[in-house]
Amino acid sequence: MTARTFPPDFLWGAATAAYQIEGAADEDGRAPSIWDTYSHTPGRTLNGDTGDVAADHYHRWAEDLDHLAELGLGAYRFSISWPRVFPGGKRNPAGVDFYSRLVDGLLERGIRPVATLYHWDLPQEWEDAGGWPVRDTALRFGDYAADIVGALGDRVDTWTTFNEPWCSAYLGYGSGVHAPGRTEPAAALAAVHHLNLAHGLAGRVVRELAPRARLSVTLNLHVIRPASDSAADADAVRRIDALANRAFLGPLLDGAYPADLLADTARVTDWSFVHDGDERTAAVPLDVLGVNYYSTTLVRAWDGVSPRSDADGHGRSAHSPWIGAGDVDFLPQPGPHTAMGWNIDPTGMTELLLRLRDEYPRVPLMITENGAAFADEVAPDGAVHDERRVDYLRRHVDAVGVAIDRGADVRGYFVWSLLDNFEWAWGYDRRFGIIRVDYDTQVRTWKDSAHWYRRLVAGNALPD
Ligand code: FCB
Repeated sequence: MTARTFPPDFLWGAATAAYQIEGAADEDGRAPSIWDTYSHTPGRTLNGDTGDVAADHYHRWAEDLDHLAELGLGAYRFSISWPRVFPGGKRNPAGVDFYSRLVDGLLERGIRPVATLYHWDLPQEWEDAGGWPVRDTALRFGDYAADIVGALGDRVDTWTTFNEPWCSAYLGYGSGVHAPGRTEPAAALAAVHHLNLAHGLAGRVVRELAPRARLSVTLNLHVIRPASDSAADADAVRRIDALANRAFLGPLLDGAYPADLLADTARVTDWSFVHDGDERTAAVPLDVLGVNYYSTTLVRAWDGVSPRSDADGHGRSAHSPWIGAGDVDFLPQPGPHTAMGWNIDPTGMTELLLRLRDEYPRVPLMITENGAAFADEVAPDGAVHDERRVDYLRRHVDAVGVAIDRGADVRGYFVWSLLDNFEWAWGYDRRFGIIRVDYDTQVRTWKDSAHWYRRLVAGNALPD
C-alpha cells in the first residue's frame, strides 16, 4: 500500500474558538456574552464550568502560536469575540489590539489567519434586545463586522462569518442546551433566517473592506441516513435534511429557502420574517465553504407506538431542536463512540464531501473542524498516549483523501482542537485537544496525536 499524499498546496491547520480558550472574561473592556450568562446559570453546564479562565489563551497567545509553528501548520482558525471588540456597539481598542497582535503573530510565523466572526458568543446586551430571533441583531452584526474587518482587513487570509449557525439557532433557541437556553420553536426558525441574513451582510463587508481575503462560512452539515428503505424513513431523512442542511445551503448558496422546509414548518411559522431581497443578500458569493464533520445521524419515522428515541448527539432536552419534525426518531448507532457519545464513521466524511461535490461543484471546500474527545490519561512519564484520537484522525484524514481522489475540491483540513478547552455545556470534562491543558497550572503538553499530526503535516502524507 502506498502512503496517502495530499495536493501540494493543501492547507493543514488547527482550530479553536474565543470563548472556549481565551478566559480573561472581564478584562480590558470585554462585555458579557450569552455564554457567560448561560455558564454562570446553575445547572446549565457540567460541574458548573464557565469560560472565565478557560485555557488562559488571552495571556498565553504567544506561546500558543509557537505551538502552531512547531506543529508546522500553514493556518490557524480562531474566532473573534464580538463582546471583546465591539461592546455596546462601539470599538473597544484594547480588544481589537489583542486580535491585531494575534494576527501579526501568525503572519510573523508564516501561518495564515483564518478568522471566524461569530463562534456563538453573542453580546448579552443584544440577547436582551431579542437575540437572533430579531432582525436588528443581524444589522448589529453587520456593524461589528464592518469595524473589525476594517481594522484587520486582508491581513486575515480567510474571513469566516459564522461557525455552525445550526447550533446557534436550534440549540440556542429550540432545545435550549446552548446559550441563551430558550425553547421557542418559532424563534429558532427566525434565528435561522437572521443568521443567514447576517452572513450576507457581513460577507458584503468582507468583500468591500478586505478585497484580497477569502470569504467563507462554516456549516455543521449532517450526514443523515434512514433506518430502513421505507418511504416513511426516506421522508424523515428529507425533512431532517431540510432543517439541518438545506435551511443554510439553500439561502447561502442557491439564494432561496427550500420550499419543502417552509411547508414542513408552516404550522410553526409563516416565515414572514424573510423580507424581499434577504435571500439575495444571504447568497453573497463564497470563496470557500467550511465543513465541520464528526459523526453521522440515523433517523426513522416514528411508528406511533415504539418508545421515542432522541439520540441525535446534540444533548438531552425536553424540547427538540428539530422544529416541526416531532415525529422523527433519532436512533442510537453502533460504536465505537467518542467520549461525546458520537459514533465514529469516517465514511460519513467522504459521503458529505461527495454530496457537496455533486451539488455545488464550483465551491471549494475546507474541513474546518474534525476531531474527537476521549478520556485522556497522563502516563507516568507525563505523556498522553491518545492512540484512539490518532486512529480517529488518521481514518478521517484518509476519508478526506478518498473524497479528493473522487473529485471533491477540498483545500484544507483543520483539526479540532489545538488545545483542550471549554466544551460548551460539557465544560472541561470533554477534551478535544491534540495538546493537553492542565487547568490547574495551564501547562501545555503535546499528546501523541500532536506528534502524529506534525509528521502528517511535514510529509503532506499520512504517516505510517
Ligand atoms: C463543534 C463546535 C466546536 C466544538 C466542537 C466539538 O460543534 O463548533 O466549538 O465544540 O463541536
